[in-house]
Parts: sequence; structure tokens; C-alpha cells
Amino acid sequence: MTQITVELGEHSYPILVDPGALERAGMHLQRLASNHRLFILTDENVESHLLLKLQQAFAGSGTDLMVKSLPAGESSKSWRQLELVTDWLLTQGIERSDTLVALGGGVIGDLTGFAAAIVKRGCNFVQIPTSLLAQVDSSVGGKTAINSSAGKNLIGSFNQPRFVLIDPLVLNSLPDRELRAGYAEVIKYGLISDAGFFDWCEDNGGRVLDRDPDALSKAIIHSVRAKALIVGEDEKELSGRRALLNLGHTFGHALEAETGFSNKLVHGEAVAAGMALAFAYSVRRGHCDPADAERVTQHLKSVGLPYNLATASVEASGQRLVDHMMHDKKMSGGTLPFLLANGIGQSFLAKDVDLEDVAAFLDESA
Ligand code: GLY
Repeated sequence: MTQITVELGEHSYPILVDPGALERAGMHLQRLASNHRLFILTDENVESHLLLKLQQAFAGSGTDLMVKSLPAGESSKSWRQLELVTDWLLTQGIERSDTLVALGGGVIGDLTGFAAAIVKRGCNFVQIPTSLLAQVDSSVGGKTAINSSAGKNLIGSFNQPRFVLIDPLVLNSLPDRELRAGYAEVIKYGLISDAGFFDWCEDNGGRVLDRDPDALSKAIIHSVRAKALIVGEDEKELSGRRALLNLGHTFGHALEAETGFSNKLVHGEAVAAGMALAFAYSVRRGHCDPADAERVTQHLKSVGLPYNLATASVEASGQRLVDHMMHDKKMSGGTLPFLLANGIGQSFLAKDVDLEDVAAFLDESA
């Protein structure tokens, strides 16, 4: 078992990476079962693959698992589902000392964390992420949210979990496409600030996607360490440090918006294409050696991730994509900060990007 701490003073918490942890969840969670119960939120897909394992981990323990299963997919990050979940918790008589457990991917983690922040003005919550994307990114760092008609993740809070329990073995039941999409967020840590890790990804990405246990664990542990460090330095994304985690997300957001935040292009795929575009745009602005941008493209291509507009199946004009970007929550003072790169492992936040130039670049890239 590997333990990584997110250092946030009195809100510090451990992330445990432990193959087989789900079967031992009782050992990890028992102390948080106030009133001999835990409130489990999951989705219908995860329920059918993993809930039984969690229930077996508590068999004979005297702890009741109260389970609420939501429809799978992004549409559950809604006011309606938040209302249903909080009403359910209140009907069950939840108390502030109780603990919610998010057993699922990013959608379940974000919704559970937000419900835990607001019900009875806050109770405990624990993340058991079941997708690669949630394990290496969304379960760590306390960003919780639902979507609104104005956009994604616009209603939410920073709410840190009590701990995160990562079991790499649960990824064995994850569809290949989701595993690959989550791997985009793994590569991201190399591209942000760790060229050596990107080298490792180039050599081992295939093993990660083949679910080689050692390669998967190394990818998860390395990514979580990188994220924990950044969150510890800039929990609420105020100094610019945490913003580095948005590499690929501004271009990616436009691609997701253009494809209707649908299964045509899932988040990790949009981030993959977004990172390649951020590198290509960095070349255009003279920041980055074209050879580095080419390495990014080649690696994404080699693992079957999109790396440009065509492979992301997006045909829109540059201006239309820029219009989508302007609805991004990162807009600040009428401009949009962009994550660009001086090279692999050398990302930086640029606040002087001309959106007309971005539109022209996108038109030329089509
Ligand atoms: N996923 C970006 C962040 O947690 O800040």
C-alpha cells in the first residue's frame, strides 16, 4: 500500500493506493461509520460491477450500508439529482457526524462531495474512485460541483474528503475507452512539469492500457503524488499553480461543448486533443520546439487518443470554438488565461493570448 498525503494543514488527508483495497474497505472505513452506518452513493454501472464487493467487505461488521444509486453519466451532475440525493439523506436522518462514500467515477465523486458540503452544513465524505480519470485527477483536491444550464461545474465548492481509497484492481472492469480517456490525464502530469515522466509514458503507455498491474500502479501513484503536491501549494486555484492542471482543458472545453458534452467525445479525449492543440499553439507563438509538439502528437496517436480537430471529430470554425471557450468558467476580466508550454514538462499560464489569433490557429489546424 502506498500512502500519499495532501498537505492542507488541519484539512490534510491521505490517499491510499492499494490493489485489492475495495475488499478491505471495512478496515479503512469502519472508524467513520458513525451510528453504525455509511451512506454510499454510486451509479448504476458501478453498482453492477463493484457494489457487491463493498457490501461483502462489511458483511458481519454491524455497519449498515445505505445505498443510493444514480443514473450513470454526466446528466446526474444536476440540480435535480442533487435535490434527490439530499432529500434521501435527510429522509434517512443523516447527522453531521455521518459519512458519505462516493463509489464511482468523476460524476459520482463531484456530486457526493457537493452534497456532503451542503447537507446539514457539512458532513464527512470519502472518495473511492472507480475510473482511471477519477483516480488520477477528480477524486484528489476537493473540487466538487454540479452543472447548470450556463455550463459545466459552475455550481460547487471546495470540499476536501477525509481520505481517498484507490484500488487499481477495480479498473479491470472499466471499458477500454474510459481507461484510455483517463490515461490522457496521466500524460498531463508529464507535460505540465515532469519531462522524465513523459519519457516513461512514451515507453510504458501501452502497458498501462493493457492493464499491466505494475505499470498501472506506477501511473496512478506518480499522478496522485504530482496532483497532491500542486493542491497542497494552491488548494483554491488562487496562485496560478493549480491552474497548471488545466493544461489542454481550454481547447478541450471548446471541443466538448461543440460535441454537446456527449459520448461523441468524452472529457479525457477532449483533454488529449486539447493538450496537442496547446502544444501546437505554443509552437505557433514561438514558445516551444516543434519536435516537442510532435512527440506529444505521436504519443497520443500511438495510444489511440485524439490529437487534433479531425481525430476529435470536430469540424467547427475557429471562431465558433473560441465562442465556446468564452463560456469557460476560467474567463477572468474579459480574457481567458491559457496553459501553454515552453517544451515538454514546461507548461506555463499565459494571460496575453489573443482570442482572434486562437481562432485563426484553429482554422489553420482544421
Ligand atoms: N482537475 C483540475 C483540478 O483539480 O484542479
